Amino acid sequence: MQSDGERRRLPAVITLGIETSCDDTGLGLYDDTRGLLGHVLASQVEIHARHGGVVPELASRDHVRKVLPLLDELFRTTGVRAKDLSGIAVTAGPGLVGALMVGVLTARGLGWAWGLPVVGIHHMEAHLLAPLLFDDENLQPPFVALLVSGGHTLLVRVNALGRYVPLGESVDDAAGEAFDKVAKLLGLGYPGGPAIAATARMGEAGRFRFSRPMTRQPGLDFSFSGLKTQVRDMLAGRRIDEQLRADVARAFEEAVVETLVIKSQRAMTATGLRDLIVAGGVGANRRLRSSLTEAAAAGGWRVGYPPVEFCTDNGAMVAFAGHLRLLDPEPHNEALVPRPRWELRELSSIRGVGSSTS
Ligand code: KG4
Ligand code: ZN
Repeated sequence: MQSDGERRRLPAVITLGIETSCDDTGLGLYDDTRGLLGHVLASQVEIHARHGGVVPELASRDHVRKVLPLLDELFRTTGVRAKDLSGIAVTAGPGLVGALMVGVLTARGLGWAWGLPVVGIHHMEAHLLAPLLFDDENLQPPFVALLVSGGHTLLVRVNALGRYVPLGESVDDAAGEAFDKVAKLLGLGYPGGPAIAATARMGEAGRFRFSRPMTRQPGLDFSFSGLKTQVRDMLAGRRIDEQLRADVARAFEEAVVETLVIKSQRAMTATGLRDLIVAGGVGANRRLRSSLTEAAAAGGWRVGYPPVEFCTDNGAMVAFAGHLRLLDPEPHNEALVPRPRWELRELSSIRGVGSSTS
């Protein structure tokens, strides 16, 4: 056990993470030995809610307003100072170009001013690694990841950290996007996922049933846009009252959840792997979490999630992904620019961490 004096003499390995890819400004600090030191988040929900979805220009402007005050707050609440940092990680893509630009330019400016390395992080990799930040069972690749956010629905085989093989993805809307669009049809607020989940709790089971898209055919791809059409047709000509809203929300949530569970089970069988991790905003959905836990128990595999607050966008996951990438002995000399479109499979492996199987 080290004394405080000895600990203070050790060089700090603390990574600052910055997330501004969509409508949340998030910052986090990850320490090599102590883990997550703290994180701060400013949600733009109120700004976008009145427009029924994210307005990119408003998102960028709000990130500009919030990012540095949030950094001050993070330093104040954790006691960490700029001179304690060893590197900066920032979400470089995919996402809204103007929003990404704010984070990337902030990180580059701070890196230059403080003489620190800056690494660009893939937003979905940060989501994917988030469960490991809270993992007490020391989960190691290979495993399967179900990534379900507002922009992506993906099943990925993780061979090693940084080595991601897509197994299936949505051919149209992402699961979160479907939640958001159906919430709009039902006159519920933005973001739609939490609104539908809350309303669905009052819904009657079995009054409506929507299809489980693409589950009758083989394969691991998803399609959610047809569900939105089914909901629209179902609502046509009806008076939308509280009960109808709740019953439709429930049937819709069940359809999405069951589809995700069927495909996840299929991915576990196809790969023969034992661990599934779930990440991304829709991973906060309680029905999805309990259904996957049941499927895992029945199927003889294990499922892990980050705590609910770390399923949706946050700076902690970026700090953690950045910490792993900055440990990589390979130099990080790629030009750091926003990459609104960026495929997971384009990433390099994170050397020196996790299994080396490819
Ligand atoms: O990962 P995330 O915060 O941002 C993106 O990277 O897209 O995911 C946001 C998405 C939104 O579509 C939101 O409606 C959905 O996650 N979401 C949920 C829940 N909480 C957030 N969907 C279903 N149930 C929830 N509880
Ligand atoms: Zn996200």
